[in-house]
Amino acid sequence: MNMPLLQIALDNLTLEDAIASLKTGVDEVVDIIECGTILIGSEGRSVIGVVRNMYPDKILCADFKIADSGSVMGAMILDGRPDLMTVICSAHISTMLAVKKEIEKRNMDTQIQIELYGNYTMDDVESWKQAGIDQVILHHSRDIKGGWNEEEIAQCRKLCDAGMKVTVTGGIGCGDIELFRGLPIYCIIAGRSIRDAEDPKAEAQKMKDEIIRLWGDQT
Ligand code: 5RP
Repeated sequence: MNMPLLQIALDNLTLEDAIASLKTGVDEVVDIIECGTILIGSEGRSVIGVVRNMYPDKILCADFKIADSGSVMGAMILDGRPDLMTVICSAHISTMLAVKKEIEKRNMDTQIQIELYGNYTMDDVESWKQAGIDQVILHHSRDIKGGWNEEEIAQCRKLCDAGMKVTVTGGIGCGDIELFRGLPIYCIIAGRSIRDAEDPKAEAQKMKDEIIRLWGDQT
């Protein structure tokens, strides 16, 4: 089983603040840098290109949760050259395919990740797979009080069993990582728990060490 990667979500309100978060040394520890929905919404899509230019060799995710107008929105986001980009699960399959077409038109390797919020079915998951999209992000909304529950973990297992590459996110701190033990998670995303820590680099390292502790003997 592969060890889950660690992704920092830059949901800062300004680019300056996002760069400051990275430059605490978090950039040296994490595997993936995410330009978060909040940052892109606040500062505009150009932040993706700025972060790409700063980190040409790092995996970069543009989390804009595209819902419609796949070709226009897809093109906007792809200008920043992300490795990963998100589409919301409620988007029509035609929107997902339109984003995919934009990627193919540019001969890029960018992978689409479907953000799972609210209602979707395993039939939807199958249709995404048929469309060549095999990544999902299981999201515990910021707006839900309390942490991950058993039902969400069971859903996580179901998605892994269905052959999807599953990323998990939403209020995850170091102490929560254990909840996903034994699951072939692709990536764990953390935003506030790293950015708001007194020592963000040390916190990111603590999370990496916890991933190694929990998955190290399973690889
Ligand atoms: C919000 C997001 C966040 O990037 C994600 O939930 C991680 O943030 P946090 O760890 O602070 O909850 O996608 O839309």
